[in-house]
Amino acid sequence: MKTSIIITAVAFGTIAGMQAQTRTAKEIVAQMTLAEKIGQMAQIAIDEVCQGEDTPPTSTLRVNPEKLREAIVDYHVGSILNAPNTRARTPQWWDEQIREMQQIALNETRMKIPILYGLDQIHGATYPAGSTMFPQEINLAASWNPAHARRMGEIAAYETRASNVPWTFAPVLDLGLDPRFPRQYEGFGEDPYVGSVFGYELVKGFEGQDNTVGNPNHVAACMKHFLGYSVPISGKDRTPAYIPYNVLLEYHVPAFEAAIRAGVHTVMINSGIINNEPVHASYDLLTKLLRQDLGFQGMIVTDWEDINKLYTRDKMVTSIKEAIKQGINAGIDMSMIPYDYKEFCTLLTELVNEGEVSPARIDEAVTRIIQLKLDLNLFDVPNTYSKDYPEFNSKEFQQASYEAAADGITLLKNTNNLLPLKKGVKILVTGPNAVSKRALNGGWTFSWQGEKINEFGKDCRTILEAMQQQFGEKNVNYVPGVSYVDADKYFVDRKDRFDEAVKAAQQADYVILCLGENSYCEKPGDLDDLYISDLQTELAQAMAKTGKKIVLVLTEGRPRLISKFSKNMDAIVQTYLPGMFGAKAIADVLGGEINPSGKLPYTYPAFPNSLIPYYHKYAEEQANTDVAYNYEGDYNFEYPFGYGLSYTTFQYSNPKINGTNLPLNSKQEIVISVDITNTGNRSGREVVQLYSADLYASLVPDVKRLRRFEKIELKAGETKTVTFRLILDDLSFINLQNQRVVEPGDFHFQIGASSSDIKETLNFTIQ
Ligand code: BGC
Repeated sequence: MKTSIIITAVAFGTIAGMQAQTRTAKEIVAQMTLAEKIGQMAQIAIDEVCQGEDTPPTSTLRVNPEKLREAIVDYHVGSILNAPNTRARTPQWWDEQIREMQQIALNETRMKIPILYGLDQIHGATYPAGSTMFPQEINLAASWNPAHARRMGEIAAYETRASNVPWTFAPVLDLGLDPRFPRQYEGFGEDPYVGSVFGYELVKGFEGQDNTVGNPNHVAACMKHFLGYSVPISGKDRTPAYIPYNVLLEYHVPAFEAAIRAGVHTVMINSGIINNEPVHASYDLLTKLLRQDLGFQGMIVTDWEDINKLYTRDKMVTSIKEAIKQGINAGIDMSMIPYDYKEFCTLLTELVNEGEVSPARIDEAVTRIIQLKLDLNLFDVPNTYSKDYPEFNSKEFQQASYEAAADGITLLKNTNNLLPLKKGVKILVTGPNAVSKRALNGGWTFSWQGEKINEFGKDCRTILEAMQQQFGEKNVNYVPGVSYVDADKYFVDRKDRFDEAVKAAQQADYVILCLGENSYCEKPGDLDDLYISDLQTELAQAMAKTGKKIVLVLTEGRPRLISKFSKNMDAIVQTYLPGMFGAKAIADVLGGEINPSGKLPYTYPAFPNSLIPYYHKYAEEQANTDVAYNYEGDYNFEYPFGYGLSYTTFQYSNPKINGTNLPLNSKQEIVISVDITNTGNRSGREVVQLYSADLYASLVPDVKRLRRFEKIELKAGETKTVTFRLILDDLSFINLQNQRVVEPGDFHFQIGASSSDIKETLNFTIQ
């Protein structure tokens, strides 16, 4: 397994004539006026300072020096973000625009403080045109191979720096607990531990092993969206959530805690409302929890327009001015305003002068911002140049993206070993996702909603194209059956030669039915119905009636319900959003070049009223009734968390533990091992999962929790021993006093191939 890349070192010296920055952040802040400080806290959208027509391919859009001067010189604005019209631009374009910003900041302002530019590089570098887009974070989690997160971070950092940008608004660490939520694909799935492991690696990938973000191959990362963003009651973006504090700590905090441990430099705040309090106004979450309890020392930035929303949306205060006071006093360091910066600067200045926001709070915020700019070495090396990044979208980077995609594809069903398909068979490819690049990549792909993959994704093949390449054009027929309405941005689909598709199935040996979702992001991705669309359901049912062997290939940002037809599918392959090289990975799995080894990073629900994760509570055992209750009876899924098949088989044996009990407070390691044998006739990869179950606890325990996992590769017939090491703290939980506690009692360690396929159970007691 390839685990690391070598990136050509780019030599960057101190720019000729500039003094190496020797002042500390504190010293710099001490020399600043109030207006200069407040300007540093202001972040504006690039659209505020642009001119020209954005009419591709001859767009004349670029920064306007006068508007830049007004923002940077007159108002001392310290940070700029986003891509104009959320559309990718060439690295050279970025390079030139940001250089112009730096020139003004460094030559025309008194304090000569460089601008901090930030972009959302969510699955690879979203906004430099021609970059290497990766699979989304959900795919990385499905690979259960954290090395892919590290590599994606490294490559995205390199390609971001190639565009003269030193800061990215990633990783997304929101818990993917609710399959309805439109940003589920941006995160690492439903499990807090998986999110912690992958979040840690992605931060290190972006920032480097030692968080040397001043290295021109690294960028500062921004963990987001702190905290509890992904579980609103409605399942819809930016709607209220109700989350008790102990629940926040137990499930939502761990991934952020891991990113802090990884040294992450910045954090973005949840745009939503928890327990009727907007998180942007929450002193308890931003200052007490994040700063004091979790020890985060980096910089806090708001999400888009969120200070203003305390007034305009949340009706918590009666003016923008009060909103600014609330947000800054809660602990915000930088406001992503992003438009009316003059108002922000004027009102915050008034608030300080009126004693409503203390000078100390301002100094604290600005010191963190300046410290970040120092860490990024922007005072000495304010620009990086696209010409110095020759590996931008290199074959090696593309290969890394392909490998991540291939490693995450998850085989959910394979009746009578239908897959892999033999060469020479006659195939009908059908369904809207067969020809959609958007459906392979999802949101944040050269644009916010992902629709500009069609303009910029020259290296991206569709599933149809990859299937033709794999199985030969003459063997692969295509009739859409259903298509997306292109003019419509989001999910609308329509019948497209529907009857002809059904007829074509009769002529084929196999039907590759490509269903799922079109690309979307954030609010536009909200759903009223989790079932896959009616027309796609109809197509699946019509195909099933033909009696042909059907392989359902899903490309989707979240698990859309397929229970109306899944039992009639012969094979099901979940590909999530596998990215630019995902189509080849899919064809390689269907053709057998790749033995699938992904496992679900979430529970695939079967019904809209059964949306619970694998770490639900025990259900009541009921004897003498017709209803089949058992202790997992409420976990009613299409496929369970951690599940995925292979073209080979694995046997688990010889489980061992180094002791069956430990006294409370012991720091001794618990060492658990198990032998895994590949009992099939081809090599393959298995994800070995270790769960613990707390049998009785003073707060109702979850039925089980993932504690460790490891992905291993085994040749046919080979056996390997997998060893897991834990300490008692790994068996702790958060009590109602919001303290992490370990309690005496009996536990089970469960070693499994999925959360519902436990192969070995070991007893353990804390005395
Ligand atoms: C999103 C953030 C993103 C920001 C800047 C917001 O709408 O919620 O995730 O970083 O925009 O683009």
